[in-house]
Amino acid sequence: MDSSDGRRLSVSLVDVTRGHESQFLAISTHFEALVISKEYGHAEMIQDEAHPLRFYAVRYWTDAQAAERCHRDPEVQALTASLYQIARVTHVVNGVRGSDAMRRALDERRARIEADRRAGFDRRVKNVGHPARDRRTAEDRRLGPRRVRDSSSEVDLISAARRAREHADVAFSHFKVGAALETGDGAVFTGCNIENATYGLTICAERVAIYKAMSEGHRVFTRIAIVADTSAPTPPCGACRQILWEFGGNLEILLANLTEEKGRHLLKNLLPLPFDARLL
Ligand code: THU
Repeated sequence: MDSSDGRRLSVSLVDVTRGHESQFLAISTHFEALVISKEYGHAEMIQDEAHPLRFYAVRYWTDAQAAERCHRDPEVQALTASLYQIARVTHVVNGVRGSDAMRRALDERRARIEADRRAGFDRRVKNVGHPARDRRTAEDRRLGPRRVRDSSSEVDLISAARRAREHADVAFSHFKVGAALETGDGAVFTGCNIENATYGLTICAERVAIYKAMSEGHRVFTRIAIVADTSAPTPPCGACRQILWEFGGNLEILLANLTEEKGRHLLKNLLPLPFDARLL
């Protein structure tokens, strides 16, 4: 959507629990009417042609302030709470974020990070030397970007990871893992583990997510959620820690199972004394 006129778009994926279709219909009809009557914009619910229980909730906000007002509206919050009881909701496009000031701060931060890292082929060039300006010292070590946040625009990464986990291909371990990685501009890329009969060619959920994002051109990452069906949290394996550090820096790592969050860590604490391009 063209944001130059101030309008904003939000899209969420809604997977309705079987048996709750009519309740869902009532909630979404009520929501659509509310959005119009309170002049927040308009909303529509599009059913996925291939999955009868999957819907795309599309909200066209009048502007970012209208979207924020809608999110703060107690009537809307009550409806959302009842929706969450009967459906799994993953936010795909979040039009609330991105007021001009936030967007500017994010762009500046991204420019700084991009300038500060050796990326792509630079890492592999021989004899690049270690110019003093290229050396990062304690304070300035590779601390990943912090996304500019406001609580109303927090993307539900854990739900996205749970959903991705369902696609895991785990013929050998039967241990399904899902991951959801957030980029600096708020997009979400998911991954699941995909195993191979040679075992060693298995790829973890985290690496699938980050390679998917990178292959779409993303280079700035903020958080990753990792989900498995275990009561103890499933932290990223050693290889994934290295890859996440290489391309994502000091990510925030959210660990969860199918029902609850199990902890948050910074990658620098899971990978102390890392080896990376600064040491080449
Ligand atoms: N696995 C992941 O995908 N991510 C993790 O963080 C831990 C392990 C996968 C790899 C393999 O398919 C299965 O879990 C058992 O190790």
